[in-house]
Amino acid sequence: MRRAACPGSYDPPTRGHLDVIRRTAAIFDEVHVLVGSNPAKSALFSPEERVSLLAEALSDVPGVRTSIFSGLIVDYCRDHEIGTVVKGIRGPIDLDYESQMAQLNRAMTGLETLFLPAAPEWAAVSSSLVRDIVRMGGGFDQFVTPEIAARTRERLAAGS
Ligand code: PNS
Repeated sequence: MRRAACPGSYDPPTRGHLDVIRRTAAIFDEVHVLVGSNPAKSALFSPEERVSLLAEALSDVPGVRTSIFSGLIVDYCRDHEIGTVVKGIRGPIDLDYESQMAQLNRAMTGLETLFLPAAPEWAAVSSSLVRDIVRMGGGFDQFVTPEIAARTRERLAAGS
């Protein structure tokens, strides 16, 4: 079985993330969507909530499993017999950062990384910019699914 991992913070999952995961699922038999936490970023949703948002948005895609992970991506992939990480690349900044991680991951365990060019319509969309727009009251619906937009509004109405 050909397995891939798509790790990310996914706070919130954007249409760009979902596009990359769907394209990955068209290439691999099983895709592990892994929600990691980046302590440097101020979170909108808990990791458990992000797993639930992703699982719902991807429920129609066969072979996708969504879970929280912590620690090194190479350790998770070794433990789950995953040979490839797939990352979406929006531009040179992503390429620079992801290339470094890809090379270190390959040096550590032989884990390979494949880069998928972001679809042009999502190439400027990032979770951190969406979070800024959400927190400052701007219109963000076009960047996420209707369900994720609704959950985000509930979150804002709850005052967190
Ligand atoms: O959406 P992000 O912020 O790019 O996601 C980052 C995350 C959490 C997926 C990434 O930092 C990660 O994979 N962390 C796990 C630790 C690890 O393996 N780091 C790379 C070492 S070369």
